[in-house]
Amino acid sequence: MEAATNIFSSSIYSWYEKHGRKDLPWRKNITPYSVWISEIMLQQTQVKTVIPFYERFMKKFPDLNAISDASEEEILALWTGLGFYRRAKNIFAAKEIVKKNFDNNFPSTFDELVSLPGIGKSTAGAILSIAYKKSFPILDANVKRVISRHDKVDVSEKKSDNKLWQLSDLYTPNKKIFEYTQGIMDVGATVCSIKKPTCIECPVSKTCKTAFEEIKVIRKSKKEKPQREIFFKLAHSNNKFLLFKKNSKSFWESLWVPYEDEGIKNDKIFKKPLKRNQQKFNHALSHLDLMITIEIFEYKKPFKISTNREHQWICRDEIKNYGLPKPIKHIIDNHV
Ligand code: ADE
Repeated sequence: MEAATNIFSSSIYSWYEKHGRKDLPWRKNITPYSVWISEIMLQQTQVKTVIPFYERFMKKFPDLNAISDASEEEILALWTGLGFYRRAKNIFAAKEIVKKNFDNNFPSTFDELVSLPGIGKSTAGAILSIAYKKSFPILDANVKRVISRHDKVDVSEKKSDNKLWQLSDLYTPNKKIFEYTQGIMDVGATVCSIKKPTCIECPVSKTCKTAFEEIKVIRKSKKEKPQREIFFKLAHSNNKFLLFKKNSKSFWESLWVPYEDEGIKNDKIFKKPLKRNQQKFNHALSHLDLMITIEIFEYKKPFKISTNREHQWICRDEIKNYGLPKPIKHIIDNHV
């Protein structure tokens, strides 16, 4: 390894030993499985949001054996409120593959890992380096920021990702890979922050090509998200709620929601409630702004409906066993 790259990586791993966030829950009792679950959760969600979800998940499914017979429903239920629910479906699909093709042993090579749903190059690198202590590079958003600033790579350029992967590969050391990987993640999250990097505290500021420069936060021109109006009818009776499993691919796939009124004249089933009221609110998804109207109907007793949509009357205290979108869960918990 060249001296310069050696200095970069040794500065990072030495910094981790002193300043790393070693108390994060996924940095205790490390297994390939625990690193996998945490990395999937951390793909699109911030550390502080992930912590309680991770702890709950690991309590219910502490290892591959514990999760091996879990249903997709049980995994989605633990994901309620975390968002990007495809990740939970990928965990279900991946553990099924691990059971079938790997004798329920978590894979330990790059090619095997990236063959699993939800695991890309960077997540595979994180699992290999943190759980197996193998020297593999990662390139998540934090690492991208550290390296692009350090080497003055223009991230708005089309080919910058190739360049950044090359650099990440170059800096990845053969020793102390565990400390290095988590160190560079932590430098990105704490020192080399988006708006206010504290270069004075940075272990690689001496070699950084943009250290102490004023940060021009280039605001991505906020693309107008498409808006979508959706209408639900929530029937409930004696603390039971009539919910439907959503099968649309566009959002909340496989989650349980109230009856979705798609403008088809099919609301005969909601005749003569004891009481009715309505809630209206907006809810932002990553790719869509939803304007949601929920009509809430109370009935004397649950009734049968004839529909080919998958549905159930679910007891209030059973709802925790189903995957629900956060705003729907909120309405049931607070407004009914
Ligand atoms: N972001 C992605 N992976 C992480 C990890 N293991 N620790 C902290 N932040 C992360």
